[in-house]
Amino acid sequence: MPAEPEIAPVVDAAHAQPFDTADDYRAAIERVRAAASSYYAGADLAMDDATYDALLARVTATEAAQPGWVVADSPADVVGAGGGVTGDVEHSTPMLSLANVFDEEELRAWAARLDRVLGRPAAGYTVEPKIDGMAIAARYVDGALVQVATRGDGRAGEDVTAQARAIAGLPARLAEPVTVEVRGEVFMTDDDFARANELRTAHGGRPFANPRNAAAGTLRAQDRAYVAPLSFLAYAVHDLPGGEGLTHSAAMAAIAGLGVSTTGGSAAGMASCAGVDELVGAIASLGALRDKLGFDIDGVVIKADSPADRDAAGSSSRAPRWAVAYKFPADTRTSRLVGIEVQVGRTGLITPVAVIEPVQVGGVVVTSATLHNFGDLVRRDVRVGDTVFVRRAGEVIPEITGAKLDERPADSVPFAAPEVCPRCGGAIDRSQKRWRCAQGRACGAAESLAYFAARDSMDIEGLGDKVIRALVAAGMVTDPADLYDLDVEAVSQLERLGRTSAAKLIANIESSKRQPLSRVLTGLGVRMTGRSMSRRLARHFGSMEALCAATVEQLQQVEAVGPERAATIAAELAELAPVIGKLAARGITLVEPGVTPFAEAEAGAPDPADAVDLPLRKEDGSPMTVVVTGSVPGLTRNEGNEAVERLGGKSSGSVSKRTDLVVVGDGAGSKAAKAEELGLRIMPADEFAELLAAHVAAS
Ligand code: IVH
Repeated sequence: MPAEPEIAPVVDAAHAQPFDTADDYRAAIERVRAAASSYYAGADLAMDDATYDALLARVTATEAAQPGWVVADSPADVVGAGGGVTGDVEHSTPMLSLANVFDEEELRAWAARLDRVLGRPAAGYTVEPKIDGMAIAARYVDGALVQVATRGDGRAGEDVTAQARAIAGLPARLAEPVTVEVRGEVFMTDDDFARANELRTAHGGRPFANPRNAAAGTLRAQDRAYVAPLSFLAYAVHDLPGGEGLTHSAAMAAIAGLGVSTTGGSAAGMASCAGVDELVGAIASLGALRDKLGFDIDGVVIKADSPADRDAAGSSSRAPRWAVAYKFPADTRTSRLVGIEVQVGRTGLITPVAVIEPVQVGGVVVTSATLHNFGDLVRRDVRVGDTVFVRRAGEVIPEITGAKLDERPADSVPFAAPEVCPRCGGAIDRSQKRWRCAQGRACGAAESLAYFAARDSMDIEGLGDKVIRALVAAGMVTDPADLYDLDVEAVSQLERLGRTSAAKLIANIESSKRQPLSRVLTGLGVRMTGRSMSRRLARHFGSMEALCAATVEQLQQVEAVGPERAATIAAELAELAPVIGKLAARGITLVEPGVTPFAEAEAGAPDPADAVDLPLRKEDGSPMTVVVTGSVPGLTRNEGNEAVERLGGKSSGSVSKRTDLVVVGDGAGSKAAKAEELGLRIMPADEFAELLAAHVAAS
């Protein structure tokens, strides 16, 4: 008899903090039970997975530390974590849960323990997606589907045979007259989720908060006037005739051959791995596919493939020892909605945006999320003060999928959608799902053109507010690219603008075509980027073409660009693509002088900015960190920073020990004093201006 293995870390209890008092421990158990009940009952208001896992981990850690406190039927020790719905179909064998690991170290520890239990290395593993849905057991007799039951409390579940008949992937008849039981997950694909919510709201219902709740609710609904589509993927098979000696992968292939959809047959596939190093690679590959699957997975499941290994390892009361779930960071969390902002986009699109308390979602701190459109917002009845579900799926901007109605503050008020366009005060076009200012692009055109023409952007002299308003009112310009189509004749028709001024303006517009990419970017007003971020992007990518082709991951290689900013920049650039295309067609410089285009740099071409002997480079060729304080003759603050970069340095706004040089001009204040205090190298502003002039003359 092998010794009782120390396997089955129920959750990540090793890292969890035990509760200090027995009362806190018992209160946590109540919360876990309540959440588990609503989870198994398919209610909309379950606790999010990560919070649930963390709470259960603390309960487990407390039980290890304080065995005297352990309550009977602790959720840390019971299949289904207590509180389940006990229905009327008894399972042929208990429907177990899975132990979880959260990183490579825990995975290695799990595999090492399995090897110890077996007394030899496991013969091999499979890796398959962990579907985020509801477990069911489906019995076929002579090839006909006769009974489908939910997991319930693990020992018995609810009969859902009638509702399960239309599930894609779970055929009413197998290809052969086999008597067998398949187990797997019922879930809703992202597309079906969108359709289910449309159906539900069209029938006057409240939309589901997420696909998992939608699947659970639909599966358990009895007499619904409409059918929301569900899907099934099998992950286990029991009593397959002739299947006793089969590996897991072979048994799954056999039921796929009978017509049942399996996790391995899904877009995610199933990998076979010899050891942990291979497992790590397979998990990463599956993780990379996560956003492209079209359905939610919350991790992968690793299983010993060989039947001998499974038999030898056995199961605890809660989970098999031969399998483990490797959980991905949760992509749905909860947070508090602190405000709803109404944004008007460049095209006049009016959208509600949620401002939320910072929350980590899928490893990223999120502070704002889309609420999609007003119809959706009003239907979901999301209110300021609500605890809301925040979901982040890959590259897309995070979204609010619903509110926890049972946590709504008593004094909350419904959100009032705007009556008029919040930017121009004009009428709103509500004929489509997505509302627009009736003026379309013209709404806000003056504002964005002024930004484009400003001194720190394209620096177009003579294009002030009045002229811009006149151009917009005359319908001559709606976006920045239209400026380059103007001619003296047309412009001189404008009120109070003579021919000479018109000619000057056109000449200035023409010469702005030579401005570097960084200024074009600044002028386009890409959200979450200002002047210095625009310069950083321009220097990193070198050309607009490379910048627009960059993936969110590539954008994140730029200093100070995190996932939220990267996703916003990518979405903004996609929205700006038509204007950028027009600018390119009109011959505007869309490259950053002196920077190797990104693609060539990636391919190893030298960056000319590195090759030349720039005055603000250190001996090792890296840029000096330079702070400009006070005014530099002839330059704005932005131009001063641009000059630093042109001379090979890196501009910074604050003085610290790491600053290499401080340029001090008229009006300098505390930064100059601090530089002296720290004994930093100081350069007077005129000397800096001379350095710049000499460099420009030489290059
Ligand atoms: S195997 C005895 N494989 O995850 C082993 N489970 O957190 C039973 N799940 O109760 C589970 N995808 O409902 C297995 N590919 C997969 C799965 C999977 C999703 C669910 C299943 C299980 C839960 C445990």
